[in-house]
Amino acid sequence: MKKILFVTHAAHYGGAELFLRDMVIHARQGGHHWPVIFLDDGPLVQDLIAAGSEARTVKAGAQILKLKRGSSLRDVVSALMGIFAAVGALVRAFRGVDIICANSQKSLFLAGLAARLARKPFVWILHDLVTDSSFSPTMRRALVFFANHMTVRVVANSRAAKDALIECGGRGDKISVVYNGFDFTADLPDSGAERDAVLREAGLPDRPTVGVFGRIAEWKGQHVLIEAIDRIPGLQALIVGDATYQDSAYFDRLRAMVDEKHLSDRVKFLGFRKDVPRLMAAVDIVAHTSIDPEPFGRVIVEGLALGRPVVATRGGGVGEIIDHGTTGLLYPPGDSAALAEALRSLITEPALAARLGADGRRAVMARFSIERSVQDLEGVFAGL
Ligand code: UDP
Ligand code: GLC
Repeated sequence: MKKILFVTHAAHYGGAELFLRDMVIHARQGGHHWPVIFLDDGPLVQDLIAAGSEARTVKAGAQILKLKRGSSLRDVVSALMGIFAAVGALVRAFRGVDIICANSQKSLFLAGLAARLARKPFVWILHDLVTDSSFSPTMRRALVFFANHMTVRVVANSRAAKDALIECGGRGDKISVVYNGFDFTADLPDSGAERDAVLREAGLPDRPTVGVFGRIAEWKGQHVLIEAIDRIPGLQALIVGDATYQDSAYFDRLRAMVDEKHLSDRVKFLGFRKDVPRLMAAVDIVAHTSIDPEPFGRVIVEGLALGRPVVATRGGGVGEIIDHGTTGLLYPPGDSAALAEALRSLITEPALAARLGADGRRAVMARFSIERSVQDLEGVFAGL
């Protein structure tokens, strides 16, 4: 069996990291040992160790971890100069490994260089739409260069992510699609059971409730939900998730918006939560509000898996999960009037909400199981 080693930069709970955590844990149950190197400390290291997997941290230089989607050439060059020690440590860690697999952009650069020095086949898992306007032209060029010249294979988290890389100059023949996989055999909370407790904890009465789940970041568009709530007097909302350091100003703006619109008795911020399935099961509708195209959107699958009707923005990988009118409702990004209209239709037509939830649940369970995703990724490694 080929020895695989994953490298990813962050060890906190983001979608790309949760994808890797679930894959590694599930692969282990199937007899595959997939160790992970993190480039920074965080709770996922301990989570993986507690689950019986191998995980450790090789600290990367601060410059490279500060790189953002919009970083300039100067930032990139200064980061590259600061990474020699980390690359050296990675080269040593790669001894005895057959395939190196990077799960983030920052690890693409570091682990890509180290894999080249160690002469190991290198795979990159792409979780972003490289066409996204928030990537600087330099960063886009760097990503495409590494994808084309440093990897033997790129794994995209959706067809949309694959197409976006090709549009920027990525080699299509190198790119496979592996979707995020979910453990549908785990005990999923019963929708009705937790509702009273969750609403009580949030300080909300028993009224129609919509939930939005995910990082608080401007492109995730939580403000669009607040605008929609303002348009529907009978509806209340749970906003679940936290801001990263860079996005705390946006979180402040959201709080101010709720105050200005006098919505504090109808909109509650719950911060980062580890019990997302319980909270999703307690709301009537799960909303997705990203104003930029979403590369995939784990929260959409998670909501549907619980039989919740999901309203999501059109674009990116979302169309690969939801078939509008059959397994959910789609609306144009940023359009709070259209979101309000969709929410209103789900509240006033319970039969529609129930049908979309049930059909959505069947569809995601058939297509996004963790077993299938692990098998697809193993297939990529086996073909190298
Ligand atoms: N999530 C969580 N707690 C929160 C908010 C989000 O565990 O308070 C999880 C959520 O369940 C999902 C992931 O974070 O699995 C977000 O992934 P998604 O692909 O939706 O978005 P990303 O943040 O990766 O862009
Ligand atoms: C990224 C994307 C998100 C995707 C996740 C897992 O964080 O923003 O859309 O679901 O990766 O692939």
